[in-house]
Amino acid sequence: MSHKKDIEALNWTLQDLRDSTDIMGGMVVLLAGDFRQTLPVIQRGTPADEIQACIKSSSLWPTVEKLRLKTNMRVHLHNDGDSGLYPEMLLKIGDGSLDVDAEGYISLSREFCNLVESDVDLIAYVFPELQQNLCSDQWLCARAILAPRNEIVNRINTDILNEVQGEMKEYLSMDTIMNTELSTSYPVEFLNSLELSGVQSHKLQLKLNVPIMLMRNLDAPRLCNGTKLRITKLVLLF
Ligand SMILES: *[C@@H]1O[C@H](CO)[C@@H](O)[C@H](O)[C@H]1NC(C)=O
Repeated sequence: MSHKKDIEALNWTLQDLRDSTDIMGGMVVLLAGDFRQTLPVIQRGTPADEIQACIKSSSLWPTVEKLRLKTNMRVHLHNDGDSGLYPEMLLKIGDGSLDVDAEGYISLSREFCNLVESDVDLIAYVFPELQQNLCSDQWLCARAILAPRNEIVNRINTDILNEVQGEMKEYLSMDTIMNTELSTSYPVEFLNSLELSGVQSHKLQLKLNVPIMLMRNLDAPRLCNGTKLRITKLVLLF
């Protein structure tokens, strides 16, 4: 679900590298995705901006050969009719064919998902008996809470972390300025308050056994961006 300009830039680059005027320099490029699920994210953009940034609005799109996956393999292989209902409902949401109320909201049924009233209920539902299970990698791998915004992720993380027993250790990022002349334009408080996507917050709070997600390729392919890890030792750095 990249920005269309990324894919257009790939076309230019491949044409240039391969010294060819064919689209993508004559290479086969495989794109995969579901437009119902994610459109490119345009900061402070309107829905129209997002659609405009989508590869469907690119001059490359008519040249793309579209193949569709139509068979639900889980239903097909395991003859599991019930798991067919879930994707059917998802498709209806994506197509906008569900009934909406006066405010434009759709209602999800109990058969489609479990509804909870609060963050506390959600955490208790997804991570029951947290303390006893925390050391089991298998148990941790089977569950996650996803949220659309970092701010909600932070809130839920803090709540779960508070529930875990043990001493909390705090790790702060480097916040000194190399060029002291710039210190008036970038006060430390400002640097510490930045929440950039893909960059860890200034303050990292950890406890023993809590799961974390690696954000850099440290030792590819063994330790790649996105690998889930569990804290087994906390040291203080100075
Ligand atoms: C692909 O890139 C070339 C520039 O190398 C450009 O002239 C052409 O219009 C691009 N094709 C499409 C379909 O955007």
